[in-house]
Amino acid sequence: MNFQVNYDDLIPNNVDLSSDQRLMRALEQWHPGYIDWWKAMGPDGFQEAEVYLRTAVSVDSKGWARFGYVKMPEYRWGVLLAPQVEGREIAFGEHKGEPAWQEVPGEYRAMLRRLIVIQGDTEPASVEQQRHLGATAPSLYDMRNLFQVNVEEGRHLWAMVYLLQKYFGRDGREEAAELLMRRSGDEDKPRMLAAFNAPTPDWLSFFMFTFFTDRDGKMQLESLAQSGFDPLSRSCRFMLTEEAHHMFVGESGVSRTIQRTCEAMKEAGIEDPYDVDAIRALGVIDLPTLQRKANLHLSATLDLFGSEISTNAANAFNAGLKGRYQETKIDDDHQLRDSVYEVLKPGENGFETEDVPALTALNARLRDDYVDDCAKGVGRWNKVIARTGIDFEITLPHVAFNRGIGLFSDCHASPAGEPLSHAEWEAAKSAWLPSSGDVEFIHSLMKPERRPGRYAAWIAPPKVGIDGKPGDFEYVKIA
Ligand SMILES: [Fe+2]
Ligand SMILES: [Fe+2]
Repeated sequence: MNFQVNYDDLIPNNVDLSSDQRLMRALEQWHPGYIDWWKAMGPDGFQEAEVYLRTAVSVDSKGWARFGYVKMPEYRWGVLLAPQVEGREIAFGEHKGEPAWQEVPGEYRAMLRRLIVIQGDTEPASVEQQRHLGATAPSLYDMRNLFQVNVEEGRHLWAMVYLLQKYFGRDGREEAAELLMRRSGDEDKPRMLAAFNAPTPDWLSFFMFTFFTDRDGKMQLESLAQSGFDPLSRSCRFMLTEEAHHMFVGESGVSRTIQRTCEAMKEAGIEDPYDVDAIRALGVIDLPTLQRKANLHLSATLDLFGSEISTNAANAFNAGLKGRYQETKIDDDHQLRDSVYEVLKPGENGFETEDVPALTALNARLRDDYVDDCAKGVGRWNKVIARTGIDFEITLPHVAFNRGIGLFSDCHASPAGEPLSHAEWEAAKSAWLPSSGDVEFIHSLMKPERRPGRYAAWIAPPKVGIDGKPGDFEYVKIA
């Protein structure tokens, strides 16, 4: 079994790349374009910095990473798959019980390629969205975490490009080239999904993005990790181990922001979380603003799950290409021929649930699983607030709030889930979403802090360092 990663090849891998000359040539041709893209669209101004990064040296669960200083353009991006499971069977859909496919099933080729391209497109998109953040990092620790996320999103792109080039011939190579051509936010050649074309202008946005939007990535990878197409499953299983760090960066980033705010309020003797001017005068981000940011990022991310009722999702499930979250742990027939799923919809009397054939409700189900996962993290944020004795709770807005895609895109709702008329929504929405004043205030705090062990005034230091390093460790040596 290939646990160890071969770093002797130009492209590190555990897929015995050197035995497939055609693939190696395709990847080696793609590689310079990737490096050009990284230099042009990766972290702006830090390409020469020495960054203390982890690199995968193995794909087994323990000890897969090695840490060391690397210049990002020299990061060893590679092709890493979780080990093949002997005798793995397709766990769901019409082919349930058949051996997992090692080659692309011809009848599903187009659908499979589309799934891989959409996943692949999100990876470079977030690097592009975050490329200006190095300049305003609140610490070297945070800067390192940003760059770690960025290089790993780059590697996730490699993971999808490997699948396209190995299994999809000429059109796979064309799609791989296209992935380097689109640009986040570009008018003519935007990235494929809306949330990946919105700017990430400041560090609070970055933390919210990694908490909410990378978590959508996690859910998508979880359901693709169930795929009957074994190489996709194995790619996604290893990507998930990297994604765990991205979840940590988002959750702890917001958590440290909350902690600093509450501490500063306590020190100043401010009990009322809505005493916004006084709190902002302390140079920290007031909790109501954090709530509005959460409202914005959750609602934008929910749109990524697509229409709640979807025949595309049903087809991908039936075909055995994309399963449910934790498919193999669910106790049912895994074919969903007769089962129903309760879906919330706008109705005569507000929002009402309706039983929908479970097959067509798979997007709704994945979204519900996602919201549950978010709620756990928000619960941990609230414990941070509660420990300081301040009376405030961050809540997740209702799924109908501020939506652009799916069942709720034509109606309005408050964060609490009350249906609103268009006029009511227009009158109230500024209280629920970040205002230009909020954005400007957050922007005003984004002063870089580059002394080792020091942190910008709006964020608390982490409890422990990365790789067990001490508090004053120099995570980035700026050139
Ligand atoms: Fe990713
Ligand atoms: Fe990620």
